[in-house]
Amino acid sequence: MIKQEDKERILQATDIVDVVSQFVQLRRRGVNHIGLCPFHNEKTPSFNVNSARGIFKCFGCGEGGDAVTFLMKHEHFTYPEALKWLANRYGIPIEEEQQTPEAIANQSEREALFAANECAQKYFHQTLLNDQNGQAIGLSYFREREINQESIKQWGLGYCKDSWTDFTDYATKQGYSVEMLVKAGLTVEKEGTDKRYDRFRGRVMFPIYSVSGRPIGFTGRILTSDKTKAKYVNSPESLIYSKGKVLFGLHLAKNHIAKEDRCYLVEGNMDAVMMSQQGVKNVVATSGTALTEDQIRLLKRYSSNVTILYDGDAAGIHAAFRAIDMFLSAGLKVKIVLFPDGDDPDSFARKNTQAEFQRYITEEAHDFIIFKTNLLLADAQDDPIKRAALVKEILVSISKIPDTIERTAYIQQCSSLLKMKEDMLTKELAKILRTNILKQHSSEEQQATEQSNTYSPEPFFSTRQQIEDPYPDDNQERGIIKLLLNYSDRSTRQAVIIDEQGTIETQTFMIVAYVISDLKNESIAFDNPIWQGILDIFYQYIQSNNALPDISLFTSSDNETLRKETASLLLEEEKYSISPLWQDKSELKTLDRFNPDVVDDHVKQTLLYLKWHKLEQRQTQILSQLKHTDSQESMQALLGEVKTINSGIQIIRKELHNIAK
Ligand code: CTP
Ligand code: MN
Repeated sequence: MIKQEDKERILQATDIVDVVSQFVQLRRRGVNHIGLCPFHNEKTPSFNVNSARGIFKCFGCGEGGDAVTFLMKHEHFTYPEALKWLANRYGIPIEEEQQTPEAIANQSEREALFAANECAQKYFHQTLLNDQNGQAIGLSYFREREINQESIKQWGLGYCKDSWTDFTDYATKQGYSVEMLVKAGLTVEKEGTDKRYDRFRGRVMFPIYSVSGRPIGFTGRILTSDKTKAKYVNSPESLIYSKGKVLFGLHLAKNHIAKEDRCYLVEGNMDAVMMSQQGVKNVVATSGTALTEDQIRLLKRYSSNVTILYDGDAAGIHAAFRAIDMFLSAGLKVKIVLFPDGDDPDSFARKNTQAEFQRYITEEAHDFIIFKTNLLLADAQDDPIKRAALVKEILVSISKIPDTIERTAYIQQCSSLLKMKEDMLTKELAKILRTNILKQHSSEEQQATEQSNTYSPEPFFSTRQQIEDPYPDDNQERGIIKLLLNYSDRSTRQAVIIDEQGTIETQTFMIVAYVISDLKNESIAFDNPIWQGILDIFYQYIQSNNALPDISLFTSSDNETLRKETASLLLEEEKYSISPLWQDKSELKTLDRFNPDVVDDHVKQTLLYLKWHKLEQRQTQILSQLKHTDSQESMQALLGEVKTINSGIQIIRKELHNIAK
């Protein structure tokens, strides 16, 4: 943990233009610096960096945040890693917060494991390249499989000699304890004896790296086709390596995945190495494990498009089916390429030229629904029962997609592929969705009760399942927050009632204080939890510090959503509507934020808009309540409220008119 005061010192020293310039060529334009966005492919620059506010924003792909966010995205650092990078660059000494003895012990064990794996990776690599035995056996094996020198270097491939303790002897001489080597899984100790030997003896070595590129484990392949021995041996799980949480090759592929906005997913290590040698750099392998949620989460950081490249055999197809549903549930878009039976990406890539291979994986990449339909159709033929099961099978996949519009598009496609009526499919889908929701609901409830004692949720940033138009006042709420952030240091003159007689007087307020107290006075709550969260943070800060917060409280927050959203709000061009009753785009002009009269009006307008919408929303609610009520009494009450609301809206319209004049 980095101490709060160190964190502040680091952020204060940080110059975002300097940070971004390490990775992107920037040039000045007005108050901003601009350049080509490193997060998506573009030819004309839409990537903006604002030095004064310490934030960046790409108007092409929407990426945005402060220097920390930039480093996390670009270098794929964790939050503390990014801070450490900055501390290092700006020479800020950091003092790690006091940790428990257990945490310290864990930390040093982790470091020792990293060191042991690093030592092993270097040693195996050297053996492969320089040792006579390594060259004769290991290197010639890779040659035979057409892995070139460059790939060997890039992937840090190696060879572990076929002697019982060659590596263990070397490592202990280097000062590594046997205990640590055993923990790292490099050395195997026969229980109850002092007999020990190298786990990977006689195998070519594929190091497994962490996302930031440190070796954390190995996969070793046997060189013979001896069926009595395992073809592959893997490092056992350790403090730093868990096979379901890594993707082989991600450290090399991550920036390519982000740039191409697609990830190719294969099963074998050899597949990944060969494809990358054939020019497809955005490739990772699951290394023979069944795909996990953790791996999907890792991938999702870089792109939401995946192409699965699996073998065309039954096992490959089964694995693809499973992976498809998992990717769809995570909101990713998935395509599938099958290779001719008997081929895997590695063998197929070797048989073809780079161009042919690349063409194949683009042209043969089928949308999941076409892939599933074709395979299942071929199987079902004209058997009506099988066909019904097939339809269900496809609808289940569609039901996993979180986005309503996308689901509808797939239903249309499915209807034309299967020659079935769209509304029938929609009805079937609705049934499946209902069941899913019920299932989800009951499991969530169960979780909630299990966790209720220990778990304190962050209510405002929880990722709620999207229901239709969940935040009807989102635009207005967003407008308020935008105002608070952009004018956090500005004041406004507003008319207020100062006594019971209703005397009105104009007074000067800080904009933030004025807006927040106005909302509090009228008990207005926001629908969108993100905006409400920001409001709460403002409120709490003012309450406890009796001062206004600096916007870096948001732009440098360790909450990613918060950083991103606030950066967007700070860098969007500000438009000001001169005729507030007609929200026509042509009626918008750029806001002159240096004209105090304009700013005062803007504050008024923004608040009025919000209130108007809140009233309309309440009105809609009442109208639907009216439909369901039989009692004369409550009907009267509701109608009365409608009347009040109507006159409220009239007043607001009048006030808005006055401003526009
Ligand atoms: N695997 C494993 N243990 C095994 C077999 C396979 O860990 N006993 C993993 C390896 O990571 C391997 C992947 O599963 O890369 C895919 O297995 P397979 O298709 O059998 O191997 P290939 O990658 O095709 O290897 P090769 O071409 O060298 O035979
Ligand atoms: Mn293979």
